[in-house]
Amino acid sequence: MIDQFQRPLHDLRISVTDRCNFRCVYCMPKEVFGKDFAFMERDELLSFEEMTRLARISVAHGVEKIRLTGGEPLLRKGIEELVAMLAALRTPDGRPIDIAMTTNGSVLALKARALKDAGLKRVTVSLDSLDDATFRAMNDVKFPVAKVLNSLDVAHSVGLGPIKINMVLKRGQNDQDIVAMARHFKGTPYILRFIEFMDVGSSNGWEMGDVVPSAEVVARINAELPLEEVAPNKTGETSRRWRYRDGEGEIGVISSVTQSFCHSCSRARVSTDGKLFTCLFATEGHDLRALMRGGCTDEQLAEVLKQIWRERTDRYSELRSAETGRLRASGKKRIEMSYIGG
Ligand code: GTP
Ligand code: 5AD
Ligand code: SF4
Ligand code: SF4
Repeated sequence: MIDQFQRPLHDLRISVTDRCNFRCVYCMPKEVFGKDFAFMERDELLSFEEMTRLARISVAHGVEKIRLTGGEPLLRKGIEELVAMLAALRTPDGRPIDIAMTTNGSVLALKARALKDAGLKRVTVSLDSLDDATFRAMNDVKFPVAKVLNSLDVAHSVGLGPIKINMVLKRGQNDQDIVAMARHFKGTPYILRFIEFMDVGSSNGWEMGDVVPSAEVVARINAELPLEEVAPNKTGETSRRWRYRDGEGEIGVISSVTQSFCHSCSRARVSTDGKLFTCLFATEGHDLRALMRGGCTDEQLAEVLKQIWRERTDRYSELRSAETGRLRASGKKRIEMSYIGG
C-alpha cells in the first residue's frame, strides 16, 4: 500500500486517552487545558477491542510498528490488557510487531513490569530537563524530575529498551540544559533525542523564535563532546543520529521545523475517538469509529483504509510557512497533539 508520494504505511500510532496529568507548556498549556476543558467521555473512546481490530487490519496491510500515545497512555485503565492484545498480532509473514509507548514517566515505575510482561517492547520517555525547577516549570504541575529518573531506572531494569528520551526544546525555557542532558546520558543505555518545538495544534502559541534549531543543538554539544553523524537505522526515521567520537553512545535530533522528514513519512494516527489522521497537522480525520459501530465488516474497513492511504498527499512540514498562513486565514483549527498522539 503506497500513497501519492510512494510512501508505504508502516507505522500506526494510537492515542489511547486525551488526558494527561502534566500540562507541558508546548503541548497542553494550562490556559487552554484548564478545569473547564471538555475531555472525552468514556463511550467516545475507542475500546481496546476496537483499537485491536484497527491494528489487526493495519498489520495485514503493512504496519509493522505500533506506538501507544496520548495524552498520557498510562492513565488509561487496564492499558496492559491492550498491550497484550496487540502483542498477539503477527505480520502476514508471521513476525511480531514492534510495540512501543511514549510516556511522561510519571507512573511508569509502577507499571513497567506489567507492561513488559504483557508484551510491550520499549518505551520512549519525555524528559525536558534534569534541573528540578526547570522541569517543574515545563510540566507546569510541579512534577519532580527525580520520579521520572526513577521510572527510567525501573523501565531499564525490566528490559523495556532500547529506551529513548525525548527532550522538546523551547528557547529560553530549557535550552540552557542541552549540554547537561547530553553529558548525563552519555555512556548510558538511554538514547537522548532533542526535538524542535513544533507548531502542532492551535493552543501552544508557537512562534519561530521559540524553536532551537537542531544544527545549533549539535554545534553546542559538539563544542564540548565531539560528535559525528551516523547513517539512519532505517528509512522513515524521525531523528538524525549523531554519535560521540569517543564511542560513548549517540544522540538524535528531530528537526521537523528546520529539516522536515515528510518525504519518508509512513505514519498514520488514530485519535482517542477513532478518527484516522494521515498527518500530525491535519484538520480533519476519517471517522473509523462510526464505521465500526455502524457494523461494517473487516473487508469494508480495510477498503476504507486502503483508499485513504492511496489518496494521501500530506507533507505539512515541507509546506509549513505557506500552510500556516493559509490555515490562520481560513480560521480552521488544527487538532491537538494530546488528542491525535505524539
Ligand atoms: P522510534 O519508533 O523510536 O523511531 O520513535 P519515533 O521517533 O518514530 O517516535 P516518537 O514518538 O519518539 O517521536 C518523537 C517526536 O518526533 C514526536 O514527539 C514529535 O515531536 C516528532 N514526530 C514524530 N512523528 C512525527 C511526524 O510524523 N511528523 C512530525 N512533524 N513530527 C513527528
Ligand atoms: N513540539 C514537539 N513535540 C511535541 N510533543 C508534544 N507537543 C509537541 C510540540 N509542540 C511531543 C514530545 C513529547 C511527546 C508526548 O509529544 O516529544 O515527548
Ligand atoms: Fe502530557 Fe506528553 Fe503533552 Fe506533556 S507532552 S502534556 S506529558 S501528553
Ligand atoms: Fe508526516 Fe505530516 Fe509529520 Fe510530514 S508533517 S512527517 S507528513 S505527519
